[in-house]
Parts: sequence; structure tokens; C-alpha cells
Amino acid sequence: MRRLALVGNWKMHTTPSQARELARELRERLEGIRDADIAVCPPATSIPAVAEALAGSNIAWGAQNAHWAEAGAFTGEISVSALRELGCTYVIVGHSERRHIFGESDEMVAKRLVWVIASGLVPILCVGETEAERELGQTEKVLTRQLERACADIEEPPAMVAYEPVWAIGTGKRAEIGDMEMAHRFIRERLAARFGSKAQGVRILYGGSLKPANVAELASSEEFDGGLVGGASLSASSFAELIARAIERRNH
Ligand code: 13P
Repeated sequence: MRRLALVGNWKMHTTPSQARELARELRERLEGIRDADIAVCPPATSIPAVAEALAGSNIAWGAQNAHWAEAGAFTGEISVSALRELGCTYVIVGHSERRHIFGESDEMVAKRLVWVIASGLVPILCVGETEAERELGQTEKVLTRQLERACADIEEPPAMVAYEPVWAIGTGKRAEIGDMEMAHRFIRERLAARFGSKAQGVRILYGGSLKPANVAELASSEEFDGGLVGGASLSASSFAELIARAIERRNH
């Protein structure tokens, strides 16, 4: 089995001072955990505070997006060099909120991915179908398109892919274990078709209404390499409990 990874996506929550507090509390609660890679992705403005609070701990940090140029006239965007200077390990790429609310295309996602990988940061490439696409039976078609286009210009597979069905994000409606397993298996097959045996090393995370109370069932599956957690990562106690339950189930 691949090593578990549990990543909190804080989205547009926390001011820098709130982020520092949350990070400090997480550090206390998660100290000593060695059986999983743990990280948080705060809003960009909170990364310096989080970096300071988590320096030297077992919790890494990352960003929610990054641009595909070193620098330039790109108002509102964030460069990978700035993220590296802030000690980031991870960058989320192609989150469905970027795609659906801010109109990011598969092509933009592909460019971001190239640059993130080239810069030595670890990408978490997000893919997933909407409710309408699922109802039309298009899940595999959508995943294929998103993966093929995002990976068009890279030689190595992204180290992490997050399967986040859009209908499960923030809805309280987590995917059933069977749906998660089918999607994760399919994603790995597509990655293998493109990258061969290197696809075996990719960690495929699940995201969408993951909670302390529902993580164990998914963690019992070999297809679950970890989680990308939204709402439940915004309180130190619930994120810590979610991590503990996932590890416990995995070690069971
Ligand atoms: P929720 O855990 O709040 O459903 O969010 C999932 C997500 O989008 C993580 O990136």
C-alpha cells in the first residue's frame, strides 16, 4: 500500500492571525504522528503565518494554486518561486472551484501542472465530475478528458491526484466506497496508459465531505491513498480526529 496523505484545503478561510492559531493547535495535536504525510493548504495570504507556526513540525504546507510563469504581468496570480521561498511543499492544481467558479480550463490546468512539477513542488491535481455529468453516465469520460489534457505536456505523472466529485464537495454527501474505488481504479488505469508503471507510485486522494465519522470506511480500501479535506480541516480537533481514524483503520 502507498503511504497515506491527508491534506487540509482551507479554501478562502482564515485571516493570517486565525491561520496561525489553527496551525499552532494542529501542531500540538498532531505531534508525533509518523504514519501519514500531513499538510495544510491555507489561503496564500496566510501561508507566511502558517509556515512560521509549523516550521520544524511533522506538518507540511502548500498553496491552493500557482501560475505558470516565473513572474510577469499576471494580476492576482501567485508564482511558484514565491511559494518555494515560503517553504511550501504542495500545490493544489485544478480544484473544481477554480474550474467551475473561476472558469479555469483544462489547458490552464495543464500549464500550471507543468510549472509546478518543474519547480520541484508536489502537485495535487484535482479531477472529478459534476452531478449532471454523473447522472448522464459521463464520469469516466470527464475523468479521461481532465487527466489527458492536464497531463498532455508532462513526462512524469503528478505525484498526487485528488478525485473530488463535485457533487460531494461541501454537500455532506460523501461518495460511497464503491464509487470511490471505481473512480480511483479508473484514474490509475488512465495514468498507467499514459505513464506506464510509474502510475503505481501516484497517490490518489479522495475529496468531498470527508469527515472524522466517515473516513474509516474509505481508509479500509486499498484504493484510498489519502484525503483532501475541506470543511473538516478547519477545526484542529476534527482534522486531528479524521487523521487518527484514517491511520487507525489503515493499520488495523
Ligand atoms: P469538503 O471536505 O468541505 O467537502 O471540501 C472538499 C474539497 O473541496 C477539498 O479540496
